[in-house]
Amino acid sequence: MIQKPKGTGDFFPDITEKLQYIENTVRKVADRFGFGEIRTPTFESTEVFARGVGGTTDVVQKEMYTFIDRDGPSFTLRPEGTAGVARAIIENGKYGDAMPLKYYYIINCFRHEKPQAGRFREFSQFGVEMYGSTSPAADATVISLADAVIRELKIENVRLHINTIGCPSCRPTYHGKLKEYFSSRKEELCPTCLSRLESNPMRILDCKSPICKEISKGAPKAIDNLCPDCADHFKKLKQYLEALNISYTIDTSIVRGLDYYTRTVFEFICDDIGAQSTICGGGRYDGLMEEIGGNHLPACGFALGITRLLPTVVLPEKAKGPALYIAPMGENATKYSIGEIQKLRNMGLYAETDTVGRSLKAQMKYADKIGAAFTLVLGDNELQSGKATLKNMSDGGALEISLCDLAENISKLYKR
Ligand code: HAM
Repeated sequence: MIQKPKGTGDFFPDITEKLQYIENTVRKVADRFGFGEIRTPTFESTEVFARGVGGTTDVVQKEMYTFIDRDGPSFTLRPEGTAGVARAIIENGKYGDAMPLKYYYIINCFRHEKPQAGRFREFSQFGVEMYGSTSPAADATVISLADAVIRELKIENVRLHINTIGCPSCRPTYHGKLKEYFSSRKEELCPTCLSRLESNPMRILDCKSPICKEISKGAPKAIDNLCPDCADHFKKLKQYLEALNISYTIDTSIVRGLDYYTRTVFEFICDDIGAQSTICGGGRYDGLMEEIGGNHLPACGFALGITRLLPTVVLPEKAKGPALYIAPMGENATKYSIGEIQKLRNMGLYAETDTVGRSLKAQMKYADKIGAAFTLVLGDNELQSGKATLKNMSDGGALEISLCDLAENISKLYKR
């Protein structure tokens, strides 16, 4: 049997209904915040991620689905959305548009990670990116958008963790302190972190190896090594979150797994979903545009893992079955039913009839199973008399109705 690739999913209507509900909800919230949808390619030049996400990250070093195209260039299936959006802004010259630029996306991402509950190789994200503001008010806005989505989806037991990781003016000093600290425990570091010691010591703080994690606990913290501007940015962000009534915890262990972040980083953590508990992550990334060849444009954003959220989302109750199921007996009734069902569907109602050739008993059982609100049995007698008995499936009540204007009558009854 041919099987789907490891870490991917087949989603049938029981799940896609939930996915659609999440997608509709995030669109609605993004709308309220004035964010418009952006769509970019599923694959980009490998350089977009190698330079944007950063060459020393796990994503770039270990997880990218990269391929050489038939005519030569190297492409990569997007492991995340931010770098592609940055590339699109540069390529389409959006610098002249009214600032801030506010975009959102719902995309599939691909990472060659070890699959486990909540961690997949193909997964879906809702992301937002806000460009053109250095103010912590922008950071607070994207955080409040994520918070609004989480509340709207009624996801419980979620905590917001925030941190600050400095900027290019304070980071060199901080990097120096990290290098000094980790060099003293060089022998214990994993081979990847050993190579990161010189190139990007902050990445060691994000290593998944238990030993590196333990060593990292005693490392100097970015928050204690901020320049005055970064300290002021973080102070104001905290004040704005308080003004928004959004509670947060300062978590100095958050450095994020992608290199582009400057100053603010944050994660929303849900206690109900096991080890992969980060449902949303983001932050400020003021240097990304230059990193991939554009002009300076400060930005911040986040992405929320839709696939990871699935187990926590409960669909609101709604009528799912058809308004009417017509059970025809005989060829004439079948022809008549097909026409009536079409009229109801054209009126915007969900209606069904037999398409399998079931017995009457089996049809009634099926109508019950799919949750039909009303059923109507039609045979030659009913067609001749122009009248039939409509059964209300919820209370078993019966009502004689005229077949003339059947669709209009059902539509009126169903609304009540
Ligand atoms: P990220 O933290 O790599 O950030 O991913 C964001 C969210 O995507 C995670 O919090 C998680 O819910 C979900 N996610 C990540 N990897 C997987 C996986 N293998 N399986 C299932 N879900 C996963 C970013 O992607 C940044 N681009 C976010 C951002 C936007 N920062 C600024 N703007």
